[in-house]
Amino acid sequence: MAVILDARGLEKSFGAVTAASNINVAVEQDAVVGLIGSNGAGKTTFLNMVTGYLKPSAGTIHFEGRDITPLAPREITRLGICRSFQIPQLFNTMTVLDNLLVGVGIVAAAGSKWGARNSAYDDPVKAVDTMLDQFGLGSYRNRQAGLLPEGTRKLLDIAMAMVVRPRILLLDEPTSGVSADEKFVLMDMVMAAVKEHKVTVLFVEHDMDVVARYTDRVLAFYEGRIIADGAPATVLDDVEVRRFVIGSHAAPAGAASHA
Ligand SMILES: Nc1ncnc2c1ncn2[C@@H]1O[C@H](COP(=O)(O)OP(=O)(O)OP(=O)(O)O)[C@@H](O)[C@H]1O
Ligand SMILES: [Mg+2]
Repeated sequence: MAVILDARGLEKSFGAVTAASNINVAVEQDAVVGLIGSNGAGKTTFLNMVTGYLKPSAGTIHFEGRDITPLAPREITRLGICRSFQIPQLFNTMTVLDNLLVGVGIVAAAGSKWGARNSAYDDPVKAVDTMLDQFGLGSYRNRQAGLLPEGTRKLLDIAMAMVVRPRILLLDEPTSGVSADEKFVLMDMVMAAVKEHKVTVLFVEHDMDVVARYTDRVLAFYEGRIIADGAPATVLDDVEVRRFVIGSHAAPAGAASHA
């Protein structure tokens, strides 16, 4: 399988805090990668570097063989790396439909390369309605985004990233603020959408039951370093991971976690 994203030797510090240290990750196309780690371990910093919001002080990031390290966030998005945020970034005074139409508008405005990949958007409202159905948001279509329950806001934020038809989707804590019961419903919908559109996914997650169920690879972060990288069963059973990541955060196995 081809490598779609390749981060080499990433470094980032904030004063005395090391947020990234010698981060080396090659992600294969169609992978579903979970990013775990206690608060402040460097997970969001990694996503911020991949999306161009933060520039690493050393190292490189290649996407589909191209060096994207110097690019601005909007250029990286245009190439096909899209994200959702730890706190949903929505247009609160607009309807759910209009939020998604903004995403489609970004696609339409981005020129011929995007146009070719997004020919489905000849009919933007139809494309958005398909996305709304896929994410179970049909009944919220004409509701104001700012008034939605938190779980629905999370889903809309992810749908906003998906409607741009990314090649890589980065999700920062997609299930935080979502009730234990709803987490799996949300992730089932997200995973169905990413499989259908063949999107590579990296997501930050504190609930180890969600990590175990949906990922095929896990990266464990601790103090800006990756201390374990491999199959979920292996990483979640690793001694250091149990001590520094799971022990410090998650509830005991099987218990509901609201981290
Ligand atoms: N813009 C910034 N300015 C200063 N310090 C920062 C900045 N961004 C992150 N940090 C620090 O870098 C470290 C890593 O932060 P990061 O947000 O990547 O952690 P995280 O793993 O996403 O944690 P959480 O699970 O709480 O979201 C933390 O100590 C954080 O305080
Ligand atoms: Mg974070």
